[in-house]
Amino acid sequence: MTQLNKGVAIMGSGSATPAQVLLNQDLSKMVDTSDEWIKTRTGIRRRHLASPTESLSQLCARASKKAIAMAGINPRDLDLLILATSTPDDLFGSASKVQSLIGASRAVAFDLTAACSGFVFSLITACQFIRTGIYQNALVIGGDILSRWVDWSDRSTCILFGDGAGAVVCQGIEEGNGLLGFEMRSDGTQNTSLNLAYQGETQNLVNGQRITQGGFSHITMNGREVYRFAVNKVPEVIEKALFRASITTEQIDWLILHQANQRIIDAVAERLNIPSWKVISNLSEYGNTSAASIPIAMDEAVRQGKIRAGDTVVTSGFGAGLTWGAAIFRWSNY
Ligand code: ACO
Repeated sequence: MTQLNKGVAIMGSGSATPAQVLLNQDLSKMVDTSDEWIKTRTGIRRRHLASPTESLSQLCARASKKAIAMAGINPRDLDLLILATSTPDDLFGSASKVQSLIGASRAVAFDLTAACSGFVFSLITACQFIRTGIYQNALVIGGDILSRWVDWSDRSTCILFGDGAGAVVCQGIEEGNGLLGFEMRSDGTQNTSLNLAYQGETQNLVNGQRITQGGFSHITMNGREVYRFAVNKVPEVIEKALFRASITTEQIDWLILHQANQRIIDAVAERLNIPSWKVISNLSEYGNTSAASIPIAMDEAVRQGKIRAGDTVVTSGFGAGLTWGAAIFRWSNY
């Protein structure tokens, strides 16, 4: 087995959200809903939506440039770029496009898809390359434009989602290790709870060969099932990661959960006995931005001076797959 001898420091963060905003009041003119229902059931008031001229790659590049600047490195210093997304501009992946937009010419770039767990899974993946000493500087981006795939006539889903991107820079260090513990899980038996499925129509080729061609349908979700799953599984996976990190819940400075629903965030924090002032939440402004939600919330908290050097941050993502996971790290930007 490879000797893990390098530590990881999380050195910088950045985020970008579209300027275009859709209010709950706007949604109530589109579907049978109300500001009051959305606010009380989800905590969401507004969401930012990409305009027709904004691409995912551009949003991710904006967030990345800020993270690189905060980390104080040059884009050419990056060895690895992982883009967590379920909504690439190109089905072959958008990471290389982002790589070219930010000038990270030395970095190998690839997409990683794990829906709303994508950022946590990507952060953990990038850290493994650093821990083994293979790479020194990695950029981890979470970005999604789910508005492209929302059924805007379905009130049970269209109220939830928004668009955005967030990024962090991870760096190898000789002493100490900022990634304190992690845990990742998947359960495909519950796959049908949340989907953005391919729908093809059969086409005949020449000698009886048949294939399908088509596109992707809209997001479908069994909201109650996903809610139950999140409230049960997220505390469990965080406790496992805390155990691996050998720290207690009292030692946590900040909890940043995937921003899906304020009721889920409150229930998880309560179950873990984490006081509300340690819980970071910005979903009233952005809704559920999928893979982007954790790095956007983290970046805002860093720039507001809440998260400071040396603070212990617990992050946990959950969503389609079903997938869920937690990563505990020490914020290292001194
Ligand atoms: N406005 C008004 N009424 C509504 C709306 C709406 N937008 N949506 C549903 N309702 C109605 C329903 O029809 C239902 O009516 P009924 O009782 O007459 O049947 C009633 O409100 C209650 O519906 P529920 O679905 O039980 O509402 P719930 O309190 O569960 O809230 C929600 C729904 C917000 C979707 C919640 O279940 C939830 O947040 N689930 C988790 C979603 C999530 O976390 N996803 C994360 C992963 S995302 C990813 O991976 C991409």
